[in-house]
Amino acid sequence: MCGIVGYIGSKNTTEILMDGLKELEYRGYDSTGIALLDNDKIEVYKALGKLKNLEQKISDANVGENHFLGIGHTRWATHGKPTELNAHPHLGEYSYVVHNGIIENYKEIKDKLIQDGHKFISQTDTEVIVHLFENYYNNSNDTKEAFQKTIADLKGAYSILLISKVQPDSIFFFKHGSPLIVAKGKEEKEVLFSSTDAPLIGLADDVVYLEDGMGGIASPAGIEFFSDEITWSTLPQSKQYAQKDGFRFFMEKEIYEQHDVITDSMLGRLQDDQIHFDEFDAKIIEGIDEIKICACGTSYHAALTASYLFERLSKIRCSVEIASEFRYKEPLMSKKTLFVVISQSGETADTLEALKMAKKAGLKSIVVCNVDNSSMTRLGDVTVLTRAGIEKGVASTKAFSTQTVVLWMMALYFAKFKNAISQDKLNSEIFALREVPKALIVCDKMHEKTRRLSKRYLHGHGFFFIGRDVFFPLALEGALKLKEISYLHAEGYPAGEMKHGPIALADPELFTIALMPQNLHYDKIKSNVEELSARDSTICSISPLDFELSDDFIKTNKTDHYMLEFFEMLVALQLLSMEISVRLGNDVDMPRNLAKSVTVE
Ligand code: M6R
Repeated sequence: MCGIVGYIGSKNTTEILMDGLKELEYRGYDSTGIALLDNDKIEVYKALGKLKNLEQKISDANVGENHFLGIGHTRWATHGKPTELNAHPHLGEYSYVVHNGIIENYKEIKDKLIQDGHKFISQTDTEVIVHLFENYYNNSNDTKEAFQKTIADLKGAYSILLISKVQPDSIFFFKHGSPLIVAKGKEEKEVLFSSTDAPLIGLADDVVYLEDGMGGIASPAGIEFFSDEITWSTLPQSKQYAQKDGFRFFMEKEIYEQHDVITDSMLGRLQDDQIHFDEFDAKIIEGIDEIKICACGTSYHAALTASYLFERLSKIRCSVEIASEFRYKEPLMSKKTLFVVISQSGETADTLEALKMAKKAGLKSIVVCNVDNSSMTRLGDVTVLTRAGIEKGVASTKAFSTQTVVLWMMALYFAKFKNAISQDKLNSEIFALREVPKALIVCDKMHEKTRRLSKRYLHGHGFFFIGRDVFFPLALEGALKLKEISYLHAEGYPAGEMKHGPIALADPELFTIALMPQNLHYDKIKSNVEELSARDSTICSISPLDFELSDDFIKTNKTDHYMLEFFEMLVALQLLSMEISVRLGNDVDMPRNLAKSVTVE
């Protein structure tokens, strides 16, 4: 999380930095700040909260256009509360730094620097970087050596931009763990930096996606890299702008556009009676006896859903791990395992690290991802893009539906290769796949129903979302959506497991959202819901079938395939959480404490 930008050149630096930060705001919006350098004068502007507050400050201060260098930051707080004091850029005596990541050994560095007389004003880990740099510079008068020594002392994950009055024409940069791109601007002597592609598009053609351990010093004279292994790439020039297109929120727009983008996810991959992937051929599973999927959050829920499909359809053993747990459990890794990571952003630190571990252990890997050129897509053996388009809402919606459909297609592709599926069964699955866009269409009636229900489902002591089979991960996803944007307590649970404990919570103040598909274990889930109803829980069932014990009901269409029910119920859950959030007056697109891309562990 956090986004950083930097600019050297003759254009309006403030404007370029602010435009860049706008593109990166989804990565954190606890505070923002920029530092502008004009000869040996540095001006700094910081604001708490979203970028619009910084915009106001800059406009009030009438900031001029004559800076030729600057750095900027949008923050998701890790160390130190979201306050203006803790906002980046951080100052030493004569230098400023912006940082994305976490300095794990900041405490010991800080203690030592305090002993040496340095004064700290923030509670952040970041501030040590600038003091460390100045400490080394004060001893050597050599900026390059001071910066390199600083980097050598840091442990953790970081991408850094540092500017200093002692070398006022330069930006010092380094990447380790968190993403950083350096670009040659379209105009002569222009250099740009950013955490992702988006702020650079239109301004630069040639970029270096820095690898871990790469850094250097940029100035109008050029870019000096610390190592020789530099690969320049051409930046794609078509900028995809995400607009709300008349919707109230990006989340709403993204829910509504699922039926469109899902067609892109299937394009070229669904051919008559076959599934086809250009990115790899089925030989990738030769000699493989297990698929292991690693992911976080919503992507983890897509992974869990896929595990049912891989085992049921492809007859391949499939295990799923939360990436942050996988990393430290000393996992046993066999070369007979195909390692799959799923990520919307391709930058989630835990998932990225899990992928690195699998690669190191020599496992074949597939990255299922929405953002091309992201860290994961550059690392995996094979990338399968989900093609959802830019997802701006922090609460993931279309990322999940596109991931699920891509993974379902992969399960069928492997099933065919392994002769684990008859052609008739494959045909009926493909038939269902073709119906997915329809299942994802938001119908007015359903939206209106969730709006009405949102009045009632505000109070109480919590929510249980329950389902069985693939509807269990869907229940987890429904609960996560509600938690994220409404701040109400919700749990997703396997319906059959309620009786082993959680049913003790049942009373009229407990809301149960029951996923009751017609085509998968209907009678089983019905019994579980009856058990809850007998204990007076307030029940809202989502189902194509009427259920007399429900207090409320969201009706879905009758279909022949449980996955079509899955996608329709997904839309209902997304709408319900959004409408509850709206009624509570919350910020739907940028909920408190969250960030779109979680690049710290
Ligand atoms: O970009 P990723 O898919 O790797 O992100 C993983 C999670 O951080 C993400 O899904 C998060 O849980 C979303 N806010 C869910 O809506």
